[in-house]
Amino acid sequence: MEFITICFSSFLLLCIIFLFTSSVHGRRKSLPLPPGTLGWPYIGETFQLYSQNPNVFFASKVKKYGSIFKTHVLGCRCVMISSPAAAKLVLVTKSHLFKPTFPASKERMLGKQAIFFHQGDYHFKLRRLVLRAFTPESIRSIVPDIDSIAVDSLRSWENRLINTFQEMKTFTFNVALLSIFGHDEVLYREDLKRCYYILEKGYNSMPINLPGTLFHKSMKARKELAQILARILSLRRETKKEHNDLLGSFMEEKEGLSDEQIADNIIGVIFAARDTTASVMTWIIKYLAENPTVLQAVTQEQEGIMKEKEVKGLTWVDTKKMPITSRVIQETLRVASILSFTFREAVEDVEFEGYLIPKGWKVLPLFRNIHHSPENFTDPEKFDPSRFEVAPKPNTFMPFGNGVHSCPGNELAKLEILVVIHHMTTKYRWSMIGPQNEIHYAPFALPQNGLPIRIFPKNQL
Ligand code: HEM
Repeated sequence: MEFITICFSSFLLLCIIFLFTSSVHGRRKSLPLPPGTLGWPYIGETFQLYSQNPNVFFASKVKKYGSIFKTHVLGCRCVMISSPAAAKLVLVTKSHLFKPTFPASKERMLGKQAIFFHQGDYHFKLRRLVLRAFTPESIRSIVPDIDSIAVDSLRSWENRLINTFQEMKTFTFNVALLSIFGHDEVLYREDLKRCYYILEKGYNSMPINLPGTLFHKSMKARKELAQILARILSLRRETKKEHNDLLGSFMEEKEGLSDEQIADNIIGVIFAARDTTASVMTWIIKYLAENPTVLQAVTQEQEGIMKEKEVKGLTWVDTKKMPITSRVIQETLRVASILSFTFREAVEDVEFEGYLIPKGWKVLPLFRNIHHSPENFTDPEKFDPSRFEVAPKPNTFMPFGNGVHSCPGNELAKLEILVVIHHMTTKYRWSMIGPQNEIHYAPFALPQNGLPIRIFPKNQL
């Protein structure tokens, strides 16, 4: 009798669960898709997006359909969102329903086990290891090294016509290596540079792995990079010294990362750290040149720090006394919004603000639209660092993303930018050469032609 009762109640429970899930499922299926158009078969609206500044495309869609709309680009059905609350939902509150997604070619080049492509336990573990190496406590000890890399870089630019972005990329590459390998980096810098520079050329290439193609050359360079890393790993294992850098964090015995996992994540961090920070620095150089009063205020602040010092060379404490310069960085991150958006993919049918986002559709939080909306920032096109004297409204300022995948390198990025601005403004002046009006997307937003400038020591003017 007892057995029959158990069977019956289990059956009843199953029926209830089935009825409930199918009604939720049915309700979801009957929800409308967000407004918008999917364009032509196969090509969708890819041409409209890429034949103009992509932000014009986004802005016109937001104007027509509101803060959530559907489209079809690069072979993917997408939902784009531009309200702070919706971005928070996708990136933070319901992040388990939206997994990160990248083109397969990028995954092959960076390495399948890199942090960006994962969710759950493995991602959590990697994130802890990466964050540990980039906390303020960990990076404060490398300020003198960053300082000397900056001084050497600036000296090599003196009285030359330089491509700001290219030079900043060299600087940020050297800082990335320092934060990953500590002082070991000088031993391997040239080899790592040679391989990484070939690898990066293939990031946006067609994934055709035949001799002679960019993709093939990149994959070969990637292999060589992994071999160099294997040499560094075995040397460190032999010497058994403790290291405070990212590699040291990855190599901790109990963490049990394989050599392949370490290689994928080292290459991944260089990729995440380099062009992003270099393009923000390039924008700062442009905005300072275009805004003489801001340049003067920053110069005064930085000269004040120089005067106070008895010993030469910046310290961590000095970098904490730069509120005006820090606001210039914030405002640059907002106006330039170098990462206009990010990608996620719905892992199941999701009900979202009364609409259906079907499983497999891409979801793009549009950072730039949020940063440029007059609802969030008054007179949004104006470069005005003083607006950050008051904290922005919650979830309206996300240059480093939000939630479980937000940028673990943001403290290092801000630190290296502060150090460069310190030396640029106290010792140099620069003039921009050629037209400056266009923005290039490569894929980060960049001033036209990487901002050619001529740079002079102040004492020669
Ligand atoms: C100004 C420079 C930088 C900007 C604007 C920036 C921006 C971002 C953004 C928006 C994300 C989140 C992407 C998403 O949610 O899809 C991100 C993730 C990431 N960033 Fe940065 N970043 C910068 C510099 C750096 C640096 C210097 C490092 C390393 C030292 C770094 C390492 C990473 C890593 C590893 C991730 C992936 C985190 C994860 O998936 O859990 N970034 N970054």
